[in-house]
Amino acid sequence: MNILILGGGGREHSIAWAVMQNPKCDKLIVAPGNAGIAQIAECASLDIENGAAVVNFCEGNAIEFVIIGPEAPLAAGVSDRLRDAGLLVFGPSQAAAELEASKRFTKEICDAAGAPTAAYAHFTGADAARAYVKTQGAPIVVKADGLAAGKGVIVAETEEQALAAIDDMFGGEFGAAGAEVVIEEFMTGEEASFFVLCDGETALPIGTAQDHKRVGEGDTGPNTGGMGAYSPAPVLTDEIAQKALDAIIKPTLAEMARRGTPYQGVLYAGLMIENGQPRLVEYNVRFGDPECQVLMMRLGAQALDLMQAAAEGRLAEAQVNWAHDHALTVVMAANGYPGSYEKGSTIKGLDNCGEDSFHMVFHAGTSEEDGQIVATGGRVLNVTARGASLSQARDRAYAMVDRIDWPRGFCRRDIGWRALG
Ligand code: AMP
Ligand code: GLY
Repeated sequence: MNILILGGGGREHSIAWAVMQNPKCDKLIVAPGNAGIAQIAECASLDIENGAAVVNFCEGNAIEFVIIGPEAPLAAGVSDRLRDAGLLVFGPSQAAAELEASKRFTKEICDAAGAPTAAYAHFTGADAARAYVKTQGAPIVVKADGLAAGKGVIVAETEEQALAAIDDMFGGEFGAAGAEVVIEEFMTGEEASFFVLCDGETALPIGTAQDHKRVGEGDTGPNTGGMGAYSPAPVLTDEIAQKALDAIIKPTLAEMARRGTPYQGVLYAGLMIENGQPRLVEYNVRFGDPECQVLMMRLGAQALDLMQAAAEGRLAEAQVNWAHDHALTVVMAANGYPGSYEKGSTIKGLDNCGEDSFHMVFHAGTSEEDGQIVATGGRVLNVTARGASLSQARDRAYAMVDRIDWPRGFCRRDIGWRALG
């Protein structure tokens, strides 16, 4: 099978790595890819948000299966264009991708599906939003409705912060994403991520994970795209995962199908767990990054069979073969991230990491210049390991980190602390 993966981050490197292990894969192209992906697959430059361009590329390269990594091509309807052209695609339609692209849409689906989530109200103007905050008090959560690159959520500890967030959003700080605002009850508990493959009808859980959003150790400092992750997430016990499946995921899929927009792809549910009960924080319509890296490390070659079964509507007959192992990934970022950071510094020592099916350095923002790997992004490497226990996976990952010679980068040294104590 000839396969195209859209994207060029650590998420896509880990998907490519898993896909390449499956003998079913004859040829793999990744667009745009990165320096790490280029070591295992062909990379192509392509405007991945332009459906017509992607269709043309597939036709020119005899591609049979397309796996879409990031949300932007999904929100732009690239999967619809590919399906219209008769290609097999892993990733939801534009209409189903609204589950990530609009917070108001997700809240309405939760209402219709009876799925537990934070109480909320939705506003198109600042005056009514401000009045609502004054009646509810703080803490309270203010969210721009649309895609805002992970920055459109303000967890306001005081009423003043909430009012300022409302003014910023309606003042245009988040562009069109902030033209509508959702204001939510502040939920307490522990967060975890639940990943489920969907084929429109059937839901197949493929793992749980926990991310580390803050840049600093002990979960301090500004928010980032994620500084590390591990899988499984101990807080998401089998019993709580089953509750999330029955009360949140399955009713969501049924409501999407009832509306004529069935959901196909990976559904990433961000959950808040308190007193053994899960509530939905948000949906994403793609794998998390860096959560994908730990899921792919655990799934290996079967990831391709599972994604293909989702795309072909055959999940009812699929199953995951678990190794009952643990995986952990440490993100190495360029100094300064998530603020402004330097680009172009050289990374050495990558050849000494002893990569195998238990140890992988997935690349995010890297490129190759004159035979050297250089950092080109904020999050640059995902140093990932698998083990019989979480502490073994962690020790293996940090042993690799210590072999990497990159003085202009940093990482958190405490990934896994919540689960490891
Ligand atoms: P979201 O993009 O919706 O996941 O929001 C980003 C982060 O904000 C979440 O991962 C939570 O940590 C936090 N958050 C969002 N909504 C709520 C809520 N209703 N209560 C508490 N924290 C929240
Ligand atoms: N790591 C969080 C996300 O991918 O949204």
